Amino acid sequence: MGRLQKILIPFLGLVLAFWFYSARDAFNPEMLRGKRVIVTGASSGIGEQMAYHLARMGSHVLLTARTEPRLQSVVRRCLELGAASARFVSGTMEDTAFAQHVVREAQSSLGGLDMLILNHVGASYFGFFDGDVEHVRKLLEINFLSYVAMTTSALPMLKESQGSIVVVSSMADRAVRAAAEVLQERPAPRDECALEILKGAALRRRELYYRYSSTRLPLLLRDCAAELLDYLVRSRYRLPAPPAAPRPPL
Ligand SMILES: NC(=O)c1ccc[n+]([C@@H]2O[C@H](COP(=O)([O-])OP(=O)(O)OC[C@H]3O[C@@H](n4cnc5c(N)ncnc54)[C@H](OP(=O)(O)O)[C@@H]3O)[C@@H](O)[C@H]2O)c1
Repeated sequence: MGRLQKILIPFLGLVLAFWFYSARDAFNPEMLRGKRVIVTGASSGIGEQMAYHLARMGSHVLLTARTEPRLQSVVRRCLELGAASARFVSGTMEDTAFAQHVVREAQSSLGGLDMLILNHVGASYFGFFDGDVEHVRKLLEINFLSYVAMTTSALPMLKESQGSIVVVSSMADRAVRAAAEVLQERPAPRDECALEILKGAALRRRELYYRYSSTRLPLLLRDCAAELLDYLVRSRYRLPAPPAAPRPPL
């Protein structure tokens, strides 16, 4: 009997812990109904898909990117899908004043903010660094400084609403599309990825890895076996064989 108790009590503890954490993890689309959300980089890709999911869940969406005709059509679709409201502000995130302006727009048109989704990414090329430092500076402005500027401006509203900040990032970033010719793997579906991001955001998860096997596991390898990771990454590319070296004259 004593031995049975020794096994039974920890087992029950495990079952209760599992139940507690699974219950906490249950996502319900109602969590996002009526929420006021900014989505950056919403004219295409994952940002566009997040806008559509939020619209289906009945959120208020404020979308931004540079291409106005694309944003107009995404806003139209969001309204068809059931968004509580949908609007856009077009401009470039190279300009931190524009980034701050988008946040002010949430204040004036939505009266506050529940979620800031930072998703935009500046265009780059796939290949070895060619020494263009100006290009790096521009990417830092788009991919980093504007994120800081928007977060700083949005903090008072997010504190008031006890809202959240979502930062979408990448291991390979635009490499997947730019390297479509040489990559042996197909990218994951954007709408599925967009939904996973929103679920993670609604549940206030600290980090979300999508897809786990091709993001989290390589990152674990990075610190303990960097050379092995380099080898595995290289083996994912079908790079053409380098040209043969010219033969020295006989
Ligand atoms: N796709 C993937 O395989 C993948 C994988 C992992 C992570 N991610 C991450 O997911 C996020 C979205 O990626 P995505 O593939 O969906 O990208 P995408 O389709 O290329 O979309 C990028 C978005 O950013 C906007 N943008 C680009 N430059 C801008 C600028 N200067 N100012 C304002 N907006 C700008 C673009 O709109 P305009 O051109 O109209 O401005 C577009 O809406 C990124 O953070 C990326 O790192 C993507």
